[in-house]
Amino acid sequence: MDFPATRLRRLRSSAAMRSLVRETHLTPGALVYPLFICEGEGVRRPISSMPGVCNLSVDEAVKEAEACAALGLGGLLLFGIPNAKDEVGSGAYAADGITQRAIRAIKASRSTASLLTIADVCLCEYTSHGHCGLVRRDSGAANGEARFEVENDSSVALLARTAASLAQAGADIIAPSDMMDGRVAAIRSALDQSGKQTIPILSYAAKFASAFYGPFREAADSAPQFGDRRTYQMDGANLREAMREIEQDIAEGADMLLMKPAGPYLDVIRAARERFDLPMGAYQVSGEYSMLHAAFERGWLEPERAMLESLLSIRRAGADFIVTYFAKDAAKLVA
Ligand code: PBG
Repeated sequence: MDFPATRLRRLRSSAAMRSLVRETHLTPGALVYPLFICEGEGVRRPISSMPGVCNLSVDEAVKEAEACAALGLGGLLLFGIPNAKDEVGSGAYAADGITQRAIRAIKASRSTASLLTIADVCLCEYTSHGHCGLVRRDSGAANGEARFEVENDSSVALLARTAASLAQAGADIIAPSDMMDGRVAAIRSALDQSGKQTIPILSYAAKFASAFYGPFREAADSAPQFGDRRTYQMDGANLREAMREIEQDIAEGADMLLMKPAGPYLDVIRAARERFDLPMGAYQVSGEYSMLHAAFERGWLEPERAMLESLLSIRRAGADFIVTYFAKDAAKLVA
């Protein structure tokens, strides 16, 4: 037999051949674009650590949503940045809260009907201390660690209230990102009790305490004022624990899963894909975006190729859809 009989290069010989045998695809409909909504009118405030991303007032967010719909994106993930914050994050569950108003305005536009509005549910953008739940100070935590505690059950009650309020405003999907125990069950029952049985929960089931959220905290003005999030977000070393988090959220009624961050945790996405049959998204977070942009600015990486490769790897790992700040740029290239 001639050497070698099998020549894998045969199927790489032209663009048409490569396209025919491609295993993984990116489509605009599987991309979700995050929006940061602020108070005011006509506001487009650039976020210095995230080139191309802005804080948008409600009117500008509607324009942005219309542009995203025209590009064929699957949806928007909405974050609110209120003017006033307090200890209990009351802006998160106010009927006229910033995110509630943005959802109503986006839904009122006829050109956004193809987009899903996904409401992030968390308290950190709304609390003066920047934690994702209610804080009890001087709790005398063990081992000389932080002398405060992010309370679980009282926080869950407020998260459930927030979810119901966002669904009432018209959110298509509720996405809790706080990492409190039991929130999915509490949110499901709050939604059901307010007549929102048909609204699905996209649970940030495995969310790791990550340095890659840094630029987001500038964008959402949500950096913790003391301590860190390690008593509620997951330890980055733990894959088995991520599977337990997911199992728990499914048992509590999650309809879909969101994995976060994406790039540094592709193995966790793959493991979840093999073990669970729920639809699963992954969040390519702010730091993943910013670090690529920093390299683009220096001319160290080719922007389009590096961006698409970063997204394709997340799909290949097993994510059905991707939340990414590149959503608009990528949609233009893959449409
Ligand atoms: C809110 C939340 C965060 C992100 C999404 N939802 C910040 C955090 O947990 O500190 C990060 C998203 C990103 O970095 O792009 N809890």
